[in-house]
Amino acid sequence: MRRIGVLTAGGDTPALNATIYGVVERANQLGVEVIGIIKGFGGMVDPRIPHLRLNPLRTTIPELRPDIGGTILGASRTYIDKNEKELLKAVVARLRRLGIEGIICVGGDGTINGLQPISDFIPCALAPKTIDNDLGLNYIEEPNDWELIETPGHKSKYSRIYSRTELELADIVNYATPGYATAVFVVAQAIERTRTTAESHRRIAIVEVMGRDSGYIALGSAYGQPDIILVPEIPIDIERLERRVREIYELQKHVVIVVGEGVRDEEGHQLGAKSASVDPAGNIQFTGASEALQQILIERLGDGYFQHRRRHDNAKQAIFTRKVGHTQRGGRPIMFDRFYATQLGGKATELLVHGRNNHIATL
Ligand code: F6P
Repeated sequence: MRRIGVLTAGGDTPALNATIYGVVERANQLGVEVIGIIKGFGGMVDPRIPHLRLNPLRTTIPELRPDIGGTILGASRTYIDKNEKELLKAVVARLRRLGIEGIICVGGDGTINGLQPISDFIPCALAPKTIDNDLGLNYIEEPNDWELIETPGHKSKYSRIYSRTELELADIVNYATPGYATAVFVVAQAIERTRTTAESHRRIAIVEVMGRDSGYIALGSAYGQPDIILVPEIPIDIERLERRVREIYELQKHVVIVVGEGVRDEEGHQLGAKSASVDPAGNIQFTGASEALQQILIERLGDGYFQHRRRHDNAKQAIFTRKVGHTQRGGRPIMFDRFYATQLGGKATELLVHGRNNHIATL
């Protein structure tokens, strides 16, 4: 194999450049040229396929820095549907004109499905990434079962792992995706910082973290030592939550609650999704999980609860919400992610060079 392509797809993570760096460094050793495809699968649709030579003369370009977040290639959430036969044919022809003999797709659950139609024509390997850590592989005990696996609570059309895609190693019990550790690091810091202010003002803090329908980031926030963590996989028992909040508040006069953005009530409704309102411009405004939870606690605890303890404040002032937001997937990767992602990138290059198609790189 003389020339391969690499692209980054889906939401970004801090470790994408590190993965690309691993791809290119290993390719240098193996004497393979690497073409970076700009803007993920979206770039392939462009008649010119915008691209970047990442290792002219088998030397990595200096602009590719494994320690910098984002992606030098840009990313998009565009995927080519297998039924768009004409488009697919044109894309494959363009890739072949560029001399691309294999493609490494750096991505998560959307990407693993997005690469399938192309892999029927050009070998593809997945270098995994997602801050959500929800590639679904953690649930597989028998590799043969994995076409049946869906991430619990995950309802997206991409949630099903294709049975044709194989793992390089079957031992995946402790599998994690690059980007996750950095997201957890950011969230844990946010929680520690939130605690000192909640404590100073005797308030209840509700910190919303990402993860879509998956609770891994919320669970990982335990490193920041919150008092309560709510994950989408376990429906919220409001009575129990209220009891626990009261117990903790009695004890330490402040509470830090972490809530995964996809948390659900006992009927399976996403918290916040029900309380949508229309703004003056006619746009639908969805309330997030944290605001919905804040409202529930305001109603349940009432102003009286805090007037007694804080003298003047009402419940609305005493309970505050914060979203950690996109800082979870922006900025520099922590060292673990940087090295882990680099190794997976290198492994993905090896898979293609060793003639594998439709494989996921693991260590
Ligand atoms: O999949 C990664 C992720 O960051 C999720 O945790 C989050 O729900 C989603 O992407 C947000 O994506 P965007 O801001 O790109 O719409």
